[in-house]
Amino acid sequence: MPPVSAVPRHIAIILDGNGRWAKKRLLPRVAGHKKGLDAVRETVKACAELGVGYLTLFAFSTENWRRPPDEVSFLMGLFIGALEREVERLAERNIRLRVIGARERFAPELVARIEAAEARTAGNTGLTLSIAADYGGRWDVLQAVNRLIAEGVREIDEAKLYGQLSLGDAPEPDLFIRTGGEQRISNFLLWQLAYTELYFTDLLWPDFDRSALDAALASYRARERRFGRTSEQLPPEAQRG
Ligand code: IPE
Ligand code: IPE
Ligand code: MG
Repeated sequence: MPPVSAVPRHIAIILDGNGRWAKKRLLPRVAGHKKGLDAVRETVKACAELGVGYLTLFAFSTENWRRPPDEVSFLMGLFIGALEREVERLAERNIRLRVIGARERFAPELVARIEAAEARTAGNTGLTLSIAADYGGRWDVLQAVNRLIAEGVREIDEAKLYGQLSLGDAPEPDLFIRTGGEQRISNFLLWQLAYTELYFTDLLWPDFDRSALDAALASYRARERRFGRTSEQLPPEAQRG
């Protein structure tokens, strides 16, 4: 049974609702993405301060390539700009940045920026911030299996598979948050979410702030994580109610 503590070791978030945030204000959808970046900055800062070990943000799914080309290019541009502007701030805060996903369809400039930002922050020992971009949970499981096959592994067990996932060195998420009101996983971390506490909020991502994070954390603290056991089998501090 993984250790359970008041502050999640790993938080995974689906940032959803940028488009609707903009639409409500009669703005183009991309204005919501731009504003969403402010919420990302604030959330990263809060998690680093709280002592969360891993924060994983779903920024662009393998399915999001289906969006209108203009929106996709805007998002790619935003991503390049953010990497360029934020990397020093992340480095100062001792945050290690990683980008997980296929990357094959990214422009060379974006790949170069990602590699530079990862290298710049690789030695940091604080929060590990993973941005899932061109990421899909099914893709992740398949690339892990294919790597094991390429290594000649004849029998795959859970630990071997886990180790080859994009977040193979991170603990499973304790808390999953999805903003925007939708209650689905949308092909995010399929393998690792098996026992994660799920939290859904109707808030749109650009409106997600410190108090919204605190509400999610309060909900998390009130959960009893049994991992298949009965309540009575848990240590007293893990029992709720
Ligand atoms: C999430 O917001 C950001 C990305 C998927 C890139 P959306 O763009 O999905 O916003 P809605 O769901 O249309 O409101
Ligand atoms: C999920 O959001 C993916 C990201 C936030 C990157 P979507 O808005 O693409 O999800 P669906 O398609 O509505 O499930
Ligand atoms: Mg959406």
